[in-house]
Amino acid sequence: MRVIEVKDYQQMSNRAAEYIIQKVVQNPSIKLGLATGGTPMGTYKSLIEDHQKNGTSYQKVTTFNLDEYIGLSGNNKNSYRYFMNDQLFNHIDINKAKTNIPSGIAADFQEECHRYENLIARHGGVDLQILGIGANGHIGFNEPGTSFRSTTHIVNLADSTIQANARFFSRIEEVPTQAITMGISTILKSKEILLLVSGEQKKDALFRLLNGEINESFPASVLKNHPYVTIIADKVAIADLKVNC
Ligand code: F6R
Repeated sequence: MRVIEVKDYQQMSNRAAEYIIQKVVQNPSIKLGLATGGTPMGTYKSLIEDHQKNGTSYQKVTTFNLDEYIGLSGNNKNSYRYFMNDQLFNHIDINKAKTNIPSGIAADFQEECHRYENLIARHGGVDLQILGIGANGHIGFNEPGTSFRSTTHIVNLADSTIQANARFFSRIEEVPTQAITMGISTILKSKEILLLVSGEQKKDALFRLLNGEINESFPASVLKNHPYVTIIADKVAIADLKVNC
């Protein structure tokens, strides 16, 4: 894993956006894997600014998001579909038909899991997957204990994840307790992974990722099995850690 240390959230966002833009310019038909949450918001803002200023085009790009809350339709302001439209897709020239997010209101969720997994495979897989990390080491919504062999599946969210995500809802009771997420093996099949880490509350997770063992009790540790992972982390998250990777 390659670790790039940057000063703060803003620099992490700029650097990540530059990284993504370069890949999109090199391969205009790139398949991007996208994340939601607080971490990539600044990156998406930088992508929009670049699109407006320099005209980087996303017309041929296809995207696959990691996850969606069960029970929320795309019109719900807390759904990840709404988030992605609002934070990125509505402000660039992407073809919405090429933006894919698992459905949170499917009639048959097992079927939806198969559909999503097959859809990614049919497109030849994700070229570049953007990831954030949970304080408990989750990637996507793969909570501790998830099998490294998992494909797209339904999860019960950990209490700590529900609490962490409550900041986006008006009341904690509104946070869904289940989600549909790419599995760990789905994520690992991406040709390249860009993990973004920022802030004090991610310090322990980053330490464990860089220095701990590869173990299903800490999902992100599986990234050490991937040949092409870049981590962009800010100073606060890296702190004065020794990096053994
Ligand atoms: C989001 C996702 C999650 C987040 C993680 C960190 O699509 O899959 O794994 O990346 O929960 O969230 P933030 O960035 O809000 O700290």
